Amino acid sequence: MSLQNLTRFARLELIGAPTPLEYLPRLSDYLGREIYIKRDDVTPVAMGGNKLRKLEFLAAEALREGADTLITAGAIQSNHVRQTAAVAAKLGLNCVALLENPMGTRAENYLSNGNRLLLDLFNAQIEMCAALTDPDAQLNELATRVEAQGFRPYVIPVGGSNALGALGYVESALEIAQQCEGAVELSSVVVASGSAGTHAGLAVGLEQLMPEVDLIGVTVSRKVEQQKPKVVALQQAVAQALELEARADILLWDDYFAPAYGVPNDEGMEAVKLLARLEGILLDPVYTGKAMAGLIDGIAQQRFKDHGPILFVHTGGAPALFAYHPHI
Ligand SMILES: Cc1ncc(COP(=O)(O)O)c(C=O)c1O
Repeated sequence: MSLQNLTRFARLELIGAPTPLEYLPRLSDYLGREIYIKRDDVTPVAMGGNKLRKLEFLAAEALREGADTLITAGAIQSNHVRQTAAVAAKLGLNCVALLENPMGTRAENYLSNGNRLLLDLFNAQIEMCAALTDPDAQLNELATRVEAQGFRPYVIPVGGSNALGALGYVESALEIAQQCEGAVELSSVVVASGSAGTHAGLAVGLEQLMPEVDLIGVTVSRKVEQQKPKVVALQQAVAQALELEARADILLWDDYFAPAYGVPNDEGMEAVKLLARLEGILLDPVYTGKAMAGLIDGIAQQRFKDHGPILFVHTGGAPALFAYHPHI
């Protein structure tokens, strides 16, 4: 293992212990393939999810810089914004969130239930914008205004996906390698690929620790041509931060997110129902339902290596189930 440079980065203990890695017996029977799940949906702050891993590093830097306000952006139902607001509350910081309504929906639950309801409980200050067309510039403009009001903002990019945040998923890869050692010989790992930090961090970590494993990112918002450069750029930035070489090819499946980011599809919703019925596990309509639809179809279409267990990285998102009911 050569990930020792990870310990050079300051990190808050928001998660505390490795998340469980579990075998899914009933889903495995149903699909005729051994399926395991990494339960990053049960990270222990504010209904859990993958962003807490990134926030362990990002919030540590915010505190070190003396910030008193976390600023970030996302969709009204962003899980990332919800977890950022919760971490801000836990640390006694303010949170200002720039939100967009990517589908222009007026569905009441989308506008006020699920993650959006929780933002009010965490006392986040909300600014709406027409669209996050240039989020980095929009966040910097917001930070300038917050600073002019006398606060010390720390900007967290959309999805917490910069090299520092993605280190959280190098850490997740370390846990996966330790949990599988001597017990499970993984063939493939499947994860939702959105703002790309989760995918990129796993790519760097797994290349070092489990190089024989295929890591497949199921895209939730972009075709491969747009997504691959984003993941590769972050993979290289993470590797550079850790003084490593990253050569692993980035594998992406882009057949499962249509019609668009944030808009549920039948296959994704069937996957949500299947996991609930067979395993009592809650996926979500925007990320993990679609990623699981990719896993299920990938088995049916023989897209995976033909033997060996598959690990699904459950990145969270279940609070959005309430926002998407009965439709958006
Ligand atoms: C539940 C869930 N899964 C997956 C993702 C995608 O992770 P990333 O943005 O790091 O690609 C997100 C991002 O918001 C998410 O909320």
